[in-house]
Amino acid sequence: MLASIRILAKPSAARHANRAIVYPSFGNPSEVLTAVTYPDLSSPPPKSLNVRYILSPINPADINVIENKYHSKPSPVKTLAEGTVHAFSEPHFVGGNEGLAEVIEVGKGVEGYKVGDRVVLTKQQSGTWASARTLHEDDVLKVPEEFSDVNAATITVNPPTAYNMLHSFVNLRPGDLVIQNGANSAVGQAVIQIASRRGLRTLNFVRNRNDIISLKESLHSLGADHVYTYDDLKNKETVQQIKSTITHKGASLMLNCVSGDPTKDMTRFLAEGATLVSYGAMSKQPLSLPTSLFIFRDLVCRGFWQTKWYADHSREEREDLMQTLAELKVSSCADDVDKTTDVLSNDAQQLQEPEHEILTLKGAASDQEVAQQVREIISKMQGGRYGKKALLKFE
Ligand SMILES: NC(=O)c1ccc[n+]([C@@H]2O[C@H](COP(=O)([O-])OP(=O)(O)OC[C@H]3O[C@@H](n4cnc5c(N)ncnc54)[C@H](OP(=O)(O)O)[C@@H]3O)[C@@H](O)[C@H]2O)c1
Repeated sequence: MLASIRILAKPSAARHANRAIVYPSFGNPSEVLTAVTYPDLSSPPPKSLNVRYILSPINPADINVIENKYHSKPSPVKTLAEGTVHAFSEPHFVGGNEGLAEVIEVGKGVEGYKVGDRVVLTKQQSGTWASARTLHEDDVLKVPEEFSDVNAATITVNPPTAYNMLHSFVNLRPGDLVIQNGANSAVGQAVIQIASRRGLRTLNFVRNRNDIISLKESLHSLGADHVYTYDDLKNKETVQQIKSTITHKGASLMLNCVSGDPTKDMTRFLAEGATLVSYGAMSKQPLSLPTSLFIFRDLVCRGFWQTKWYADHSREEREDLMQTLAELKVSSCADDVDKTTDVLSNDAQQLQEPEHEILTLKGAASDQEVAQQVREIISKMQGGRYGKKALLKFE
């Protein structure tokens, strides 16, 4: 257990601790997560880079990985860098799959990277909840300059998922309707923007909450056409109202990251021959659908996993997708703003950053304090209605 993790080298100066959020075994994050301070990184071996993480998101799947409920498994950290004796007596896992890092030292034989470059990870479950790591050059990719730090830190998981789901399953034309649940998730926010950019209409569902009006306003400002709550699906009049606002044809694509009963109820807005793509199961409930949907409306059910997309595509295709997302200009509330003002002289902008909160882990704080901060935020996320993407920033 964690008590057996033992620091063999003196920790670096407290102000810039070389830290990571780790777990010695799978389990509930609020019980197994802790923080450790590593010795400073050695110089990187050939073909490797030392990086400093700038921002590292906490995604729902990261929690599932720690719980051992995810398809991809992390590898335990046994060595800090190739050829370096490990600093702890027990192997352990470093949390996090996604993140933005800055190159701070370049090993021999590395081509194409220099100190100061911003990179993201191509290797799955690399352990990004850390202040610094040594990475092989093949495991990173430079990020386009256009991206803000927040967009770059969140660019490998959610926007590509949204983009691919809107392009891979149904040949959508301007005016077509896409329906989705979890519309306020980071994926959902990207779906709204990318769909709106393509002239698609979106029918969005979210959970009810105290500040539902402001949540609806913020999704409309991203380009959402209709936003309703799952509770609305229980109200016959509202259902009729929704049916009258969408075309008689219904939605040809439905995106599901929630499952459970509300998802079943949403299928009444589907067109004949529609495709339902499942990519998450936030409610932890099964997806149960009436058989009649398959018989009388020829429903097609598919799944999507961005990790598999990466495994099936080349590094160049991955770079192209990231560049496409960097160059994507999305319509938004900017369209409604007086174009004569200086503020928004263009009527299109880059993909908006997801609603987020940056959790700074202070260098001067102890490992215990830092671990407590992370456990608390994950516990809030597990409680639901957290409403923003949390990003770790190690000082
Ligand atoms: N298959 C793939 O390749 C892929 C890629 C990216 C993401 N995903 C999955 O997509 C989902 C969204 O990811 P994200 O990073 O965009 O999430 P996120 O920004 O952290 O948002 C989480 C979303 O889940 C909702 N939610 C949480 N608990 C819920 C519950 N019990 N019932 C209904 N809704 C609930 C939240 O609604 P509230 O605000 O109401 O809590 C929010 O809309 C996750 O399941 C994630 O694993 C899959």
